[in-house]
Amino acid sequence: MANITFVEHDGTEHTVDIEEGKSLMQVAMDNGVPGIDADCGGECACGTCHVIVDDRWIKATGAVSEEEQQMLDMTPEKEVTSRLSCSVNLSSEMDGMVVRLPEFQM
Ligand code: FES
Repeated sequence: MANITFVEHDGTEHTVDIEEGKSLMQVAMDNGVPGIDADCGGECACGTCHVIVDDRWIKATGAVSEEEQQMLDMTPEKEVTSRLSCSVNLSSEMDGMVVRLPEFQM
């Protein structure tokens, strides 16, 4: 089965199955991956579901909307491949993707 690995700031890894149609945030929450707060419940309105996608997979995560970019611009630990995990819809093409979690959500 296709899977994704979340890596916490301290290096702890959590590998979870990809469930197509769900967001990256949803599978993290469903599988008890710590480090994602998702205060707005996935409405792209809080910025507390920030993740940093491994370079090799950033294209597979799709385009960043203007709304998401505005939230990301306010994120203290933003990196070039940062995404809001509620805005990334999963597909089997993401099999093997690695996503890092920031030390803190805002
Ligand atoms: S859950 Fe709030 S922006 Fe993603």
